[in-house]
Amino acid sequence: MLTIALSKGRILQQTLPLLKKAGLEIADTELNSRKLILDTNLKDVKVIIVRTTDVPVFVQHGAADMGIAGKDVLLEHGASNLFEILDLNIAKCKLMVAAKSAEHLQQNTLKVATKYVNSAKRYFQEKSQPCEIIKLYGAMELAPVVGLSHCIVDLVDTGNTLKANGLIPLEHIEDISSRLVVNSASFKTKNAQIKTWISAIENSL
Ligand code: ATP
Ligand code: PRP
Repeated sequence: MLTIALSKGRILQQTLPLLKKAGLEIADTELNSRKLILDTNLKDVKVIIVRTTDVPVFVQHGAADMGIAGKDVLLEHGASNLFEILDLNIAKCKLMVAAKSAEHLQQNTLKVATKYVNSAKRYFQEKSQPCEIIKLYGAMELAPVVGLSHCIVDLVDTGNTLKANGLIPLEHIEDISSRLVVNSASFKTKNAQIKTWISAIENSL
């Protein structure tokens, strides 16, 4: 049995057509059910659908053999015990620093609101910029507007969310897209099966 962890939400919508092309289908009745472990068209493959931040956790501990998650989430998690195998080039965006203006970044200690605590810390540490990180779980764009922080570290695609809140993208941290990850032990014990799937997914990109 092979278990694949998929991120629910935005990534799932772009993952399903890719998997279908690779030969793995999940019936709508399964997708629309309240089940969390879903059957597929293949007897030896099951899919679990979890929050995107939980995908590397399931894969790291071997509760899922493979998974699909955003690079943002993998960077934040640290991604130990798993191999990042393929860039799927879906859910593409950028991790950026944004603020009301560049002047707002000129601080002795920069107050940064973000859910990407580790990536933000690493970025400002590399720049030798002292910072205070304020952890948020969503609506980061609000923080500089209401004076909670000087800037944010968040994902940017079209830039519409920043613009709607009077913020501008200022510094690029990472290019983000979704990646196929594999548990390091599963990669050895289920090597043939996993390699077949990697090729099938690669060929359907
Ligand atoms: P949750 O709902 O579990 O809190 P979330 O709101 O971060 O998670 P999504 O918004 O579905 O979940 O984002 C999931 C992933 O999609 C992110 O981790 C990132 O890799 C990618 N992503 C997020 N926002 C964008 C965007 N605007 N454009 C493209 N990709 C994005
Ligand atoms: C993401 C991200 C930004 C927005 C950027 O949020 O957190 O707020 O997309 O995209 P844009 O540059 O195209 O506007 P999402 O839409 O996933 O909402 P959420 O954070 O509330 O889940």
